[in-house]
Amino acid sequence: MCGKPISVAEADRPAWIYLGPADLLGERDVLPIVVGRQQLILLRDGGRISAAERACPHEGADLSLGRCAAGRLFCPRHLASFDLRDGSVSPGWRFRSLRLFPVVSTPDGLWLEMDEDLLLMK
Ligand code: FES
Repeated sequence: MCGKPISVAEADRPAWIYLGPADLLGERDVLPIVVGRQQLILLRDGGRISAAERACPHEGADLSLGRCAAGRLFCPRHLASFDLRDGSVSPGWRFRSLRLFPVVSTPDGLWLEMDEDLLLMK
């Protein structure tokens, strides 16, 4: 066996995945991205950038065709909207929240936090 064993402190640190340069979104507010085998979208609402699953939790519409406004992502099919702070769906709908994933912007570019939800997402 070779390689350095991973310490508990290292294992507890979140893993960050490089997505691209800080201006990856260009003029867009929604951009489809692929991370490993996961289809995601990169979102910008004002100055905040985050990531989310690409398929709407209602009937699977492609949310990369949606739009962001006033802190919400609007699904292009039935126009339900999702709060970009916690993924909760607009009133009147009964399905689960949108899965959101943290993104940080550094001078090196955009980084996605690889958490357990993302790894287990189907
Ligand atoms: S598919 Fe998105 S709200 Fe129905």
